[in-house]
Amino acid sequence: MLRVLGCFAVVLFITTTVYSLKCFNCENRFNPACGIYFKPYQFKAHPCPGPDYKCALQRQTSKDGWVGIVRICYQLGSLNGINETNGCKNWTNVMLGYTAYYCFCDTDYCNSAVTIPQLNIIPISLLLYVLIV
Ligand SMILES: *[C@@H]1O[C@H](CO)[C@@H](O)[C@H](O)[C@H]1NC(C)=O
Repeated sequence: MLRVLGCFAVVLFITTTVYSLKCFNCENRFNPACGIYFKPYQFKAHPCPGPDYKCALQRQTSKDGWVGIVRICYQLGSLNGINETNGCKNWTNVMLGYTAYYCFCDTDYCNSAVTIPQLNIIPISLLLYVLIV
Protein backbone atom coordinates (compact mmCIF):
# COMPACT_ATOMS: atom_id res chain seq x y z
CA MET A 1 0.00 0.00 0.00
CA LEU A 2 2.77 2.41 0.95
CA ARG A 3 4.60 1.44 -2.20
CA VAL A 4 1.60 2.22 -4.34
CA LEU A 5 1.23 5.56 -2.62
CA GLY A 6 4.95 6.18 -3.10
CA CYS A 7 4.70 5.49 -6.82
CA PHE A 8 1.70 7.71 -7.04
CA ALA A 9 3.59 10.49 -5.28
CA VAL A 10 6.54 10.08 -7.64
CA VAL A 11 4.30 10.18 -10.71
CA LEU A 12 2.51 13.21 -9.34
CA PHE A 13 5.82 14.86 -8.61
CA ILE A 14 7.11 14.23 -12.13
CA THR A 15 3.95 15.35 -13.86
CA THR A 16 3.64 18.48 -11.77
CA THR A 17 7.26 19.55 -11.83
CA VAL A 18 8.83 18.36 -15.05
CA TYR A 19 5.95 18.62 -17.47
CA SER A 20 4.39 21.74 -16.15
CA LEU A 21 6.25 24.52 -17.92
CA LYS A 22 3.54 26.91 -18.99
CA CYS A 23 3.97 29.10 -22.03
CA PHE A 24 1.77 31.42 -23.97
CA ASN A 25 0.79 30.08 -27.37
CA CYS A 26 -0.49 32.68 -29.79
CA GLU A 27 0.23 34.64 -32.94
CA ASN A 28 -0.54 38.28 -33.54
CA ARG A 29 -1.53 37.29 -37.09
CA PHE A 30 -4.66 35.74 -35.56
CA ASN A 31 -5.03 37.94 -32.49
CA PRO A 32 -3.42 41.40 -32.38
CA ALA A 33 -3.34 41.21 -28.56
CA CYS A 34 -0.46 38.72 -28.97
CA GLY A 35 1.70 41.46 -30.53
CA ILE A 36 4.46 43.67 -29.21
CA TYR A 37 2.07 45.26 -26.73
CA PHE A 38 1.10 41.88 -25.36
CA LYS A 39 -2.11 41.60 -23.38
CA PRO A 40 -1.49 38.42 -21.41
CA TYR A 41 -4.86 38.55 -19.67
CA GLN A 42 -6.46 37.73 -23.01
CA PHE A 43 -4.62 34.43 -23.20
CA LYS A 44 -4.28 31.24 -21.23
CA ALA A 45 -0.78 29.85 -20.85
CA HIS A 46 -0.76 26.15 -21.69
CA PRO A 47 1.46 23.48 -20.18
CA CYS A 48 3.97 22.24 -22.72
CA PRO A 49 3.50 18.64 -23.84
CA GLY A 50 6.85 17.29 -22.64
CA PRO A 51 10.04 17.90 -20.68
CA ASP A 52 12.13 18.91 -23.69
CA TYR A 53 10.40 22.21 -24.23
CA LYS A 54 11.17 25.85 -23.61
CA CYS A 55 8.96 28.87 -24.04
CA ALA A 56 9.83 30.78 -27.15
CA LEU A 57 9.00 33.97 -28.89
CA GLN A 58 9.66 34.63 -32.53
CA ARG A 59 9.62 38.11 -33.98
CA GLN A 60 9.93 38.57 -37.69
CA THR A 61 9.56 41.69 -39.78
CA SER A 62 8.33 41.01 -43.30
CA LYS A 63 9.17 43.09 -46.36
CA ASP A 64 6.02 45.21 -46.03
CA GLY A 65 6.95 46.14 -42.46
CA TRP A 66 4.49 43.84 -40.71
CA VAL A 67 5.96 42.59 -37.45
CA GLY A 68 4.87 39.04 -36.84
CA ILE A 69 4.99 37.73 -33.29
CA VAL A 70 4.65 34.06 -32.43
CA ARG A 71 4.65 32.73 -28.87
CA ILE A 72 4.94 28.99 -28.45
CA CYS A 73 6.07 25.98 -26.46
CA TYR A 74 9.23 25.25 -28.39
CA GLN A 75 10.47 21.67 -28.63
CA LEU A 76 14.24 21.60 -28.36
CA GLY A 77 15.83 20.65 -31.66
CA SER A 78 12.95 21.91 -33.82
CA LEU A 79 15.09 24.56 -35.50
CA ASN A 80 18.18 22.93 -36.85
CA GLY A 81 21.30 24.80 -35.77
CA ILE A 82 19.86 27.52 -33.56
CA ASN A 83 21.50 28.16 -30.19
CA GLU A 84 18.76 27.24 -27.74
CA THR A 85 20.27 28.78 -24.61
CA ASN A 86 18.02 31.25 -22.82
CA GLY A 87 18.02 34.74 -24.23
CA CYS A 88 17.34 36.41 -27.53
CA LYS A 89 19.20 36.18 -30.81
CA ASN A 90 18.79 36.87 -34.47
CA TRP A 91 18.86 33.65 -36.38
CA THR A 92 18.76 32.90 -40.06
CA ASN A 93 16.96 29.83 -41.23
CA VAL A 94 19.19 28.87 -44.13
CA MET A 95 16.80 26.19 -45.36
CA LEU A 96 13.76 28.44 -45.55
CA GLY A 97 15.65 31.65 -46.24
CA TYR A 98 14.43 34.01 -43.55
CA THR A 99 15.92 35.75 -40.54
CA ALA A 100 13.99 36.23 -37.35
CA TYR A 101 14.59 37.21 -33.75
CA TYR A 102 14.17 34.34 -31.33
CA CYS A 103 13.93 34.38 -27.56
CA PHE A 104 14.04 31.26 -25.42
CA CYS A 105 13.34 30.98 -21.71
CA ASP A 106 12.31 28.27 -19.31
CA THR A 107 10.13 29.66 -16.57
CA ASP A 108 6.33 29.75 -16.51
CA TYR A 109 4.75 32.48 -18.63
CA CYS A 110 8.18 33.81 -19.52
CA ASN A 111 7.41 34.29 -23.20
CA SER A 112 5.01 37.07 -22.29
CA ALA A 113 7.59 39.82 -22.08
CA VAL A 114 10.84 38.69 -23.65
CA THR A 115 10.43 41.04 -26.63
CA ILE A 116 11.42 44.01 -24.52
CA PRO A 117 15.08 44.60 -25.39
CA GLN A 118 17.43 44.70 -22.43
CA LEU A 119 18.50 48.13 -23.66
CA ASN A 120 15.39 49.48 -21.98
CA ILE A 121 17.25 49.20 -18.70
CA ILE A 122 19.49 52.07 -19.78
CA PRO A 123 16.80 54.74 -20.35
CA ILE A 124 15.14 53.74 -17.05
CA SER A 125 18.36 54.10 -15.08
CA LEU A 126 19.07 57.36 -16.88
CA LEU A 127 15.63 58.60 -15.96
CA LEU A 128 16.17 57.59 -12.32
CA TYR A 129 19.52 59.31 -12.38
CA VAL A 130 17.96 62.50 -13.72
CA LEU A 131 15.15 62.36 -11.15
CA ILE A 132 17.46 61.73 -8.22
CA VAL A 133 20.28 64.16 -9.06
C1 LIG B 1 25.02 29.53 -27.18
O1 LIG B 1 25.03 30.83 -26.65
C2 LIG B 1 25.56 30.91 -25.34
C3 LIG B 1 25.36 32.31 -24.83
O2 LIG B 1 25.32 33.25 -25.84
C4 LIG B 1 27.03 30.49 -25.38
O3 LIG B 1 27.60 30.57 -24.09
C5 LIG B 1 27.14 29.06 -25.91
O4 LIG B 1 28.49 28.70 -26.04
C6 LIG B 1 26.43 28.93 -27.24
N1 LIG B 1 26.38 27.53 -27.59
C7 LIG B 1 26.70 27.11 -28.81
C8 LIG B 1 26.57 25.64 -29.03
O5 LIG B 1 27.06 27.85 -29.71
